[in-house]
Amino acid sequence: MKNKQNLTSVFSLFSTGVTIITNGTSKKEYFGCTVNSFTSLSLDPPQFLFCLGNENENLKSFKIKSPVNVNILSKSQENLSNKFAGDLLNRWDGVSFSIAKNKVPFF
Ligand SMILES: Cc1cc2nc3c(=O)[nH]c(=O)nc-3n(C[C@H](O)[C@H](O)[C@H](O)COP(=O)(O)O)c2cc1C
Repeated sequence: MKNKQNLTSVFSLFSTGVTIITNGTSKKEYFGCTVNSFTSLSLDPPQFLFCLGNENENLKSFKIKSPVNVNILSKSQENLSNKFAGDLLNRWDGVSFSIAKNKVPFF
């Protein structure tokens, strides 16, 4: 436990942006996960990458064939960040969002 706390302190020294990756094009398929492993890769072709932990429960609900939206969070969206890093069953409860042209939710 002490090692885990130490690791958290070390990791927190590295500042990153925080995103919520969303995908799924129908209500029963919606996926959302707080992710700071997002980074830009190239402009031409336009590419980015992010990592989802192999052991994460929510990886099972990521829809490989669905488009993806990257929601770049501001400081005022810390609650949203915590919600989408928390209990998988309650992530979308009480959250307001819109649907993008690609049919995937965005904040
Ligand atoms: C600020 C922040 C950044 C995170 N970045 C990532 C990430 O890049 N990749 C990832 O798989 N999980 C990341 N997580 C963890 C997930 O949001 C989530 O907590 C985790 O998937 C829950 O595990 P579970 O699906 O096994 O319940 C991050 C959490 C926080 C709070």
